[in-house]
Amino acid sequence: MTSVPEVVRVDPEVPATGVLVGDEERAAVDRVLASGMLAQGPEVAAFEAEFSEHVGGRPCVAVNSGTSALLLGLLAVGVGPGDEVVVPSFSFAATANAVALTGARPVFVDIDPAQFCLDPSAVRAAITERTAAIMPVHLYGHPAAMTALTEIAAAHGLALVEDAAQAHLASLDGRPVGTFGAVAAFSFYPTKNMTTGEGGLVVCADEETARRVRLLRNQGMERRYANEILGYNMRMTDLHAAIGRVQLRRLPAWTMARRENARVLTEGLEHLGAVAVPRVAPGAQPVWHQYTVRVPDRDRVAASLEELGVRTGVYYPTPIHRLPAYDLDLDLPHTAVAASEVLSLPVHPALTRAQVERVVAGVALAVAR
Ligand SMILES: Cc1ncc(COP(=O)(O)O)c(C=O)c1O
Repeated sequence: MTSVPEVVRVDPEVPATGVLVGDEERAAVDRVLASGMLAQGPEVAAFEAEFSEHVGGRPCVAVNSGTSALLLGLLAVGVGPGDEVVVPSFSFAATANAVALTGARPVFVDIDPAQFCLDPSAVRAAITERTAAIMPVHLYGHPAAMTALTEIAAAHGLALVEDAAQAHLASLDGRPVGTFGAVAAFSFYPTKNMTTGEGGLVVCADEETARRVRLLRNQGMERRYANEILGYNMRMTDLHAAIGRVQLRRLPAWTMARRENARVLTEGLEHLGAVAVPRVAPGAQPVWHQYTVRVPDRDRVAASLEELGVRTGVYYPTPIHRLPAYDLDLDLPHTAVAASEVLSLPVHPALTRAQVERVVAGVALAVAR
């Protein structure tokens, strides 16, 4: 067994994402297989306890995806039919889907163009007597404007539900994301800052909420065959949790690597007029799930980078309210511009310094063409 992880690369060029899994993850899975206890068991409990150390000791409940974490978090704080939940339209569809799947209505509002997260003044303007919750997304690993949003939620008696799917270990004024809301949801999908294969986790402000999430996760049961409420099977398996425990130990070093990569990218790109580098809000410690620039000529620059062997991503080309599943005609100008301009450059910790420098050189070349 070696402590140096194997790097799984999607191709020999500079990949947009990189999944770091190695001998330790394999050994952890083998250990669980050998135990014969494959479904939710002691590995899940240990993973929850270990994750809790990163979110101020709050109770954590691991589930089978980030979407499940959002859905169960919303249900546990009482969101349901007839309610409205304020969400950004500039996010992954799962943000709004989780709301809609409770029977509540997602109310899409605009973002702050500086950090791509919910604009507190737009949130304030969207509140009605049916509003039950506000769901900020810490997009790209940058914390949303939690100070203002916490004040708004408190003033109107609303639940704050954090979509922290992309923001493991991010913080604002020294406080970790996941510890602001009544509940917060993390994702462990392979492209996230850490993975369990598929998986998610709900962080809860109190034990009572955590108990409701645990019931919802497991058919409404705490004791076997004593089903108290209607529930799902959204359990995490011990196989996934064992991988997550290894990844969680590595996450702080990977986060530092992402920060260093982001620093090199910003240093190399900030004086290129054609590219707007990401701006960090005062007090924010982002974790660079994505390093996202704005380029008005985005599609041409992305095609040029592709030719140069630098893979990029667009998160997200279509605002959620414009997707066929919602198809709403809303005027969200900052969202519309962001969707047409954003371009995410490779920033993940599997990159070498030479690859990061190649990204900088590639962008300089692409915008000059
Ligand atoms: C912002 C956001 N919310 C929710 C999710 C859903 O997570 P999962 O894919 O684990 O269900 C994701 C990730 O895919 C995401 O990026």
